[in-house]
Amino acid sequence: MTDQSSRRPRQPAPIIGTEPADLDRAADVIRRGGLVAVPTETVYGLAADAANGTAVASIYAAKHRPEFNPLICHVNGAEMAARLARISPLAQRLIDAFWPGPLTLVLPRADACPVSELATAGLDTIAIRHPKNAAITGIIERIDGPLAAPSANPSQALSPTTAAHVADALGDSIDLVIDGGATQLGIESTIVSVSDSGCVLLRPGALDRAEIETLTGPLSTPDSAAAITAPGMMKRHYAPRAKLRLEARDQQPGEAWLGFGAPPDGVSPTLNLSPSGDLREAAANLFAMLHDLDARYPAIAVAPIPDHGLGEGINDRLKRAAASF
Ligand code: TXA
Ligand code: MG
Repeated sequence: MTDQSSRRPRQPAPIIGTEPADLDRAADVIRRGGLVAVPTETVYGLAADAANGTAVASIYAAKHRPEFNPLICHVNGAEMAARLARISPLAQRLIDAFWPGPLTLVLPRADACPVSELATAGLDTIAIRHPKNAAITGIIERIDGPLAAPSANPSQALSPTTAAHVADALGDSIDLVIDGGATQLGIESTIVSVSDSGCVLLRPGALDRAEIETLTGPLSTPDSAAAITAPGMMKRHYAPRAKLRLEARDQQPGEAWLGFGAPPDGVSPTLNLSPSGDLREAAANLFAMLHDLDARYPAIAVAPIPDHGLGEGINDRLKRAAASF
């Protein structure tokens, strides 16, 4: 399933229910790297196996996301969350109080976290939530792993609260829609980052901040004084230490070469995002390969990447990474 063009155009995604046999079918699609729209208590999500980078790349392609924002990983409880993130005592108290429910926690990524680096956009933090909906948690249980799922709307469009919204907007670019009726809450989860430097309200949402503050004390917001006095805390974009040279045509001494497609004469790629020139494969490899080269080389030359489809997101991230000095 690496070739985007061979998967599209295709039939509108079937819409099925929430019986055990339906969830079995959804889990099968997810295991094979497919995309399933699933209900949660907030809005419908567009779910893929969070550990499968190519499947995660398909989410961005289906949503036409021009940039790779990090995605929320959905779990079925604190035990699975502890496989993905380091849970501080305060984070544990928030989990005990508000999960399952519309609270997403941004936590330090665990060393052995199996989630694809594309899903977390190369960051060393990860957003996790345990939704209160038996259909999505039933699928998570079946695959025994987290589902990466942004809201199931095309980028810039309204978040979907019914299966019909999803089918209308995305039906021909995904594999399956689970119809669990209208979502109860209708707005997205509240997102709070919890770290040693404090708790920050990153996105207001369906859980009232006052409820959270009973456990955390006053939450700062990204533009409040508290956040400004802690520079680096809000660093949301992956930034390598190595110097990046984009759209390179040749390799300078000392530079690693991050290839895409066939290399130019005289260049031997240190790593190649996709030897066959497949943008979905390149997106899946992007952050892991940058991390690897960043650890080993002072400078990285990156081959030109076509600026269409997922290439737009890849180039957006590369430009930000190159500008981060
Ligand atoms: O209710 C919801 O949260 C829905 C349902 C489907 O669970 N999901 C949702 O996902 O709204 P999405 O992708 O539309 O929004 C996720 C937000 C993005 O704004 C993203 O930037 C932020 O979460 N986010 C994810 N990981 C992050 C991280 N490591 N640090 C900071 N922000 C993060
Ligand atoms: Mg959204």
